[in-house]
Amino acid sequence: MHDKDPGHLAPESLMMGFGYVPEWSEGAIKPPLFLTSTFVFRSAEEGESYFRQAYGLDPGGPTQPKGLIYSRLNNPVLEILEDRLRVWEGAEAAASFASGMAAISTTILALCVPGDVIVYSIPVYGGTDFFFNHILPAYGMRAIPVQAGDGFAERVRALKLAHARVLYVETPANPTTLMTDLAAAAALKGELSRPGAEGEAGAVAPGETILMVDNTFLGPLWQNAVACGADLSLYSATKFIGGHSDLIAGAVLGRADLLTHIKTFRTILGTMAEPFTAWLMLRSLETLKIRMEAQAANAEKLARLLADHPAVGRVLYPGLLEPGSPQHELFVRQCSGPGSLMAFEVGDGTDKAAAFRVLNRFRLAHLAVSLGGTETLVEHPAAMTHADVADEVKARTGITPGMIRVSCGVERIDDLVADFRQALDPEGAKPLR
Ligand SMILES: Cc1ncc(COP(=O)(O)O)c(C=O)c1O
Repeated sequence: MHDKDPGHLAPESLMMGFGYVPEWSEGAIKPPLFLTSTFVFRSAEEGESYFRQAYGLDPGGPTQPKGLIYSRLNNPVLEILEDRLRVWEGAEAAASFASGMAAISTTILALCVPGDVIVYSIPVYGGTDFFFNHILPAYGMRAIPVQAGDGFAERVRALKLAHARVLYVETPANPTTLMTDLAAAAALKGELSRPGAEGEAGAVAPGETILMVDNTFLGPLWQNAVACGADLSLYSATKFIGGHSDLIAGAVLGRADLLTHIKTFRTILGTMAEPFTAWLMLRSLETLKIRMEAQAANAEKLARLLADHPAVGRVLYPGLLEPGSPQHELFVRQCSGPGSLMAFEVGDGTDKAAAFRVLNRFRLAHLAVSLGGTETLVEHPAAMTHADVADEVKARTGITPGMIRVSCGVERIDDLVADFRQALDPEGAKPLR
């Protein structure tokens, strides 16, 4: 199982052992947690050779350390985790990070230089939006927002850009679950590339346009961004991968050449995941599939309840898309399931106070941001996760004052249904058990 080739086994089978052999650690069935900052070299020569490999000092030689040096560069638990993470999307390589934002920011900083343009779909997660709009401009990089959803590629083409270094797509979008066609985005790469461009010192794939996809909402179970043409698939691993709302982490899966470069930046910026977090993620990966399936099964039932409820207006959930609509056609082509995130509007979506009243009445679901954990979470995107997104962008992308985002957990569905009923209609609903 420690073979680097996962072979024919399914990801859910590989999560129990791939990348680790018990004989390495006294027969321990689980990889031990290496809480160590540094690793002792057997000789000075060995230390020197590891460093030469780590910094790519030997022309044509490896650019990643082959031996353990220091936990900012590598740690056994992180290496096992990264082997297992890449399995889910059949990616060449993976890197783990201290958070989803560490994954996103380190990757952008590794790939872009001053003057570069990043085209990104809106809406995006609020932290990503902040990074693009308030941090990147100070480093001479320009992020151009383009409305997500049907026609995204045409809208990007209409900008008539000579070059974009990064095409950044979050699909389904947080919080509206609007989907963007990844195959069409991948087809744009050739048009936005600058063949033969001279690279800045240290740049990887100069002139090329890199498709980065935030796959947090549906990946890795329900959407394989790499298979859809993404060069890099990014995750807030805090969500489904961690899955228990007890850790903060990020991950990037994709092309080995890009990940080698990104890992160099990670080493220098110090944005790697720490060993205990990585160990918790290894444990979580063993149940990733069954958790995501149970969450989606609950979400499908809850979405139908919301869709039929008189106090609810729009319900945004991939499982409720109108057959024959372009979004449904895209969903069928790009995703293997609707996942467990949805947004709904109280009434016509204009009344923030009404949405707050509903939020304040939940008793089983927790009023908290984040998503993908075993417990059901509800939050108010406009006032919370997307508070800093410009009002004009909120209006354009349909993040309304009456909108509530739901991340479905694995509780008994009857209990969730009762909780949602009493939160939406305290007079008419039966009390919770
Ligand atoms: C879609 C998406 N991407 C990225 C992030 C950032 O991840 P983290 O909070 O782990 O830094 C989040 C966090 O909510 C998210 O929802």
